[in-house]
Amino acid sequence: MDDRAPCDDTVDLSVLAADPYPTFDRLRANTPVVWAERLGVWLVTGYDLCRRILADPDTFTVSHPDNILQRTIGPMMLSRDGPAHKRMRRPFAQPLHLPALRRAGMEDRIRSVAEHLIDAFASDGAADLRARFARPLAMRIVADHLGIPFTVELFDIFDAIAAAFANQEDDPRVAAAGQDAFSAFASILDRAPADAPFRSMATHTDPPLDPDETASNVAITVFGGFETVTATVVNTLWAWGRLGLGEEIAQGATTWGTVVEETLRWESPVQTATRHVTREVTLAGTTLRRGDTLQCLLGAANRDPAAFDQPERFRLDRPRTPKVLSFASGPHLCIGAPLARMEAATALRVLLDRLPHLRISEDLPPPRGHEFRSLPALPAHW
Ligand code: HEM
Repeated sequence: MDDRAPCDDTVDLSVLAADPYPTFDRLRANTPVVWAERLGVWLVTGYDLCRRILADPDTFTVSHPDNILQRTIGPMMLSRDGPAHKRMRRPFAQPLHLPALRRAGMEDRIRSVAEHLIDAFASDGAADLRARFARPLAMRIVADHLGIPFTVELFDIFDAIAAAFANQEDDPRVAAAGQDAFSAFASILDRAPADAPFRSMATHTDPPLDPDETASNVAITVFGGFETVTATVVNTLWAWGRLGLGEEIAQGATTWGTVVEETLRWESPVQTATRHVTREVTLAGTTLRRGDTLQCLLGAANRDPAAFDQPERFRLDRPRTPKVLSFASGPHLCIGAPLARMEAATALRVLLDRLPHLRISEDLPPPRGHEFRSLPALPAHW
């Protein structure tokens, strides 16, 4: 037994992956900062505490040899803090700002990719919309944005990288498969044309990123654009079907943007933001030591009653403040949030315009997963 206190020896990955919300509520009310004995990390469940941690990279850093992302794809913006972080983040963040996306005609591009994908299955009357719509949409848009030649290999590569990122049990085979997948991705980048946009992005910082740094930062950007956008489209459609929101959308009482936003809060696709403690610190009366690891539980923060009224309810009339923590906050705030919101809302609008009789299978279980939360398939018919 560890001497860290308060300590919980009931929470494990299966509890968090299945239905974590009763556990989140219990922890938040009794022990908002708690040592999870079975996971070997501190868990933080409150909205304000998570924000405070994420805003303070001097005390709670991503920079650590144990950073599970860095062990898979090498050092990149989500494994660095301070000036080294800014240098890597800046060139990829700028083209993803909303005005830049608008100038690049991104909404039209999303609409056209969505139409093209729907053309391929519209006459079938049924499809798994995760496999046929959400995944290819997300991969095509992010690959196109960065100028990565599209190949179907990218799906397997980023599935293996996602598994390695979520490998909290430290399975060596999963870790090795993730590293091999990253090498395969770096080879795809090597073969990309000399004028591929990701190459020029990598030069817009001082000093410019070298080829290894470029590959690692492009990999985290593709990963962000693929895994999480897929989950957002899938989770939103699942919530729309389960809660019967079709009429509200059809009558213009709400928008897809609002349904996406509330889904991001209610079933957050990314559930954790992991940090390493750089110096002894006291949080909510609990002392953490240098070298400890903690997880800000974003899905728990997004259901904190101190921040969100009736947090367990899916409400379309929720004010836009406080902001959801689904994209984290502080210096590592997701660079792809404007694209993700635009992409999910635009694609779903096109989907329902084209298939107005769409129905999601009724007996689907809810999303699951601790690190990344979604459904493995989304069978639908029309
Ligand atoms: C709804 C979809 C998305 C969700 C829920 C999401 C969530 C997140 C979260 C929680 C973080 C912070 C992690 C941490 O602080 O530990 C993050 C960072 C990041 N995201 Fe996203 N993301 C999404 C979409 C995207 C998209 C579309 C892209 C790129 C096209 C992207 C690229 C990145 C990158 C590169 C970072 C690292 C930023 C940094 O370290 O400064 N994400 N994302």
